[in-house]
Amino acid sequence: MNLTGGMAWHWMAWRSNARWAPTSQAIEKWLLAEAQAFKPSNSKDQPSLMLIGASAGWMMSSKWLQQFARVDTFDIDPWAAMLFQWRHGKALKATRTELHCHKRDALQDLPALLSAHPKACVFFDNVLGQLRFQNLNTDWQQVERRLKQIKVQLKGREWGSLHDRMSGPTTHLIEQHSDLPVRHADWHDQHWLGQLNAQSPWLDHLTQDVFPTGVSVQNFAWNFSANYRHWLQAGWVRP
Ligand SMILES: C[S@@+](CC[C@H](N)C(=O)[O-])C[C@H]1O[C@@H](n2cnc3c(N)ncnc32)[C@H](O)[C@@H]1O
Repeated sequence: MNLTGGMAWHWMAWRSNARWAPTSQAIEKWLLAEAQAFKPSNSKDQPSLMLIGASAGWMMSSKWLQQFARVDTFDIDPWAAMLFQWRHGKALKATRTELHCHKRDALQDLPALLSAHPKACVFFDNVLGQLRFQNLNTDWQQVERRLKQIKVQLKGREWGSLHDRMSGPTTHLIEQHSDLPVRHADWHDQHWLGQLNAQSPWLDHLTQDVFPTGVSVQNFAWNFSANYRHWLQAGWVRP
């Protein structure tokens, strides 16, 4: 059973479109700013993208994808390919971006996929934070080791990730159109969790060491439901 995707995810994402829109917009803004800052590398030397945990791309920006000459999506969910094409196919056709959607366990097959796509950059799209919950019989230290290993496998590659850092219930009801909390650079984690109205204990998604030291990390709040929030982190790694 797929605990982090599948029909339950598609149904929830479709229903939550308005509630999740501010987070999707903040992610799009970040992706476009990163692409702009490092344009030569994104648009010429590495014209293709491997998008891992793509699902239907419910929170993914078509505008960002349009900058690539080719996009390969990977998901274990049998519905993902068709729904991704439905959501992003038209926009990608407009920019003649080639789209190939694959049903595949891209984490298990990562070394083979990296060899098959030697010039592509890689984006883990809200998938690494799910590992802990897909491996309920595996002890958490092993999941943490697996997550730390990813940056080693990607050495020399341009790659990024967006993932859950923590998540949990809130002390207050989150109004549908309330402003998204924004983290200030000098806030420590406890202050940020306070701003998120986190009601202890929150789930630790074990992603604190996904990025190599020194990579600039962006924080996002995600109003998942009326009383549940996620703290997302994103970063982009250049060789
Ligand atoms: C939270 S959802 C991602 C949401 C997606 N990025 C979006 O914008 O809709 C996590 C996705 O990762 C997929 N996934 C989980 N493990 C995977 C693996 N080993 N390889 C590829 N996809 C995986 C799940 O099937 C699910 O669709």
